[in-house]
Amino acid sequence: MKKLIIINGPNLNLLGTREPDLYGSLSFTEFLDKLKSKYPDIDIEHFQSNVEGELIDKLQEVGFSYDGIILNAAAYTHTSVGIGDAVKAIKVPVVEVHISNTFNREKFRHKSYVSPNAKGVILGFGLQSYELAIQSFI
Ligand code: DQA
Repeated sequence: MKKLIIINGPNLNLLGTREPDLYGSLSFTEFLDKLKSKYPDIDIEHFQSNVEGELIDKLQEVGFSYDGIILNAAAYTHTSVGIGDAVKAIKVPVVEVHISNTFNREKFRHKSYVSPNAKGVILGFGLQSYELAIQSFI
């Protein structure tokens, strides 16, 4: 069984209530339950943290043994050299995901420290971005 993990960064624990026009009104737990039942043959784990170092610790922990990582580093995408370095340091392929199209938003969201070392980037499809990332590993 393929083992994937979705790693979500800061404020993504508020999905469903946070800026619903932009990020939708479904909570991540509700979405994840649907995703898991749609892909019963894949082990889909989920980790969320608002703390930069905890995201780096998780990337290091899973980054040498899992089949794939789906990473939405949220705001840290645009600021964190440490997360970018972690993605570079690990062996497991990372697909960078964003719910919104960061390129039609503020300029500071156009920069990503994750992209240069990601296997690919999927953004702008709402929560479906995560599903497309899962499919990329199948
Ligand atoms: C986000 C985009 C980021 O710019 C923002 O800081 C987020 C969410 C997205 O999924 O669209 O928190 O990563």
